Amino acid sequence: MKKIGLLTSGGDSSGMNAAIRAVVRTARVYNIKVIGFKKGYCGLIKDDSVAMNSRTVGNIINLGGTILQTARCPEFLETKGIRKAAAVLEKHRLEGLIVIGGDGSMHGLSELIEQTGIAGIGIPGTIDNDLYGTDYTIGFDTALNVAVDAIDRLRDTATSHERLFLVEVMGRQAGYIALYTGIAGGAEEVLVPETISHIDLLIEKLKKGHQKGKISSIVVIAEGDDAGGAFDIEKKIRKKTAWETRVSILGHIQRGGKPTAIDRINASRLGVAAVEAIRKGITLKMVGLDRNEISFVHLKDVWSKKRQISSELLKISEILST
Ligand code: ADP
Ligand code: F6P
Repeated sequence: MKKIGLLTSGGDSSGMNAAIRAVVRTARVYNIKVIGFKKGYCGLIKDDSVAMNSRTVGNIINLGGTILQTARCPEFLETKGIRKAAAVLEKHRLEGLIVIGGDGSMHGLSELIEQTGIAGIGIPGTIDNDLYGTDYTIGFDTALNVAVDAIDRLRDTATSHERLFLVEVMGRQAGYIALYTGIAGGAEEVLVPETISHIDLLIEKLKKGHQKGKISSIVVIAEGDDAGGAFDIEKKIRKKTAWETRVSILGHIQRGGKPTAIDRINASRLGVAAVEAIRKGITLKMVGLDRNEISFVHLKDVWSKKRQISSELLKISEILST
């Protein structure tokens, strides 16, 4: 293999740059040239490309976001868009493509592979940690640490004023950030999209905590919870209680910033493994981590199957918040 393409797609996440650096520097070891495409599949369609080498990826391991930029690209959902991308791959004589992104991006990559025959490997990049077939996705650890830091700060005010704080974290379809944040931040309750949330039950539990001597409470809510976002839930609670409540929405603050050491190391491992796989002829797979070992999963499984939330962690969260 002499030349491959590389792009980041979907939502950005901290550590994507470490993966880009690892891909480019590993490729250099095997004398493989790397062409980077800007802004996800849109850059591939438009041939918005840049030649990459060890120097172009210098001093980026500590940076959040992605130097290749990223996008959601509706044009690529259509056959016409994929055909345009295929012509660009042909023009550059690319033999392989590495895509860093979430489940949508993995779906796009498998469509492209099916329709062009190019070799392709995905690298999991999303703060949500919700991809089937890997225990880890790039950016989750950084997002989690930002959210836990926020909870620690909010707890000071919650305790000083004896308030109930409703903290909304990211995760439209997945509660991993919420669950991990809740456990690490010692939250009284965690609401995630994967389980049905009952507001009456939540109020009951918070009342019991109060009776046991708790003077403040923190509830972590995933943005996609079935009972609504933090403001909706606050309204429901206020209708039934006279509690002093406050809402804090952490939002995109969780997506950016300096990647944690864990995100830098794991992203580097995945980047190296992706290049080693593609040069060995492995294709239609996403590289991941299974019990901290490099593993591979079929791209189709990544986008067609759902990663279950950990029942062990849900239980731990329940036990420790009493
Ligand atoms: P993420 O990768 O973070 O899950 P999205 O779901 O928004 O983000 O997907 C990113 C991009 O991947 C989309 O904007 C689109 O360009 C491409 N994509 C997603 N699903 C498909 C699909 N079924 N076919 C082709 N491309 C897709
Ligand atoms: O998938 C990552 C994520 O940050 C989700 O947690 C969130 O729901 C979504 O992206 C937000 O997307 P956007 O960047 O389009 O606001």
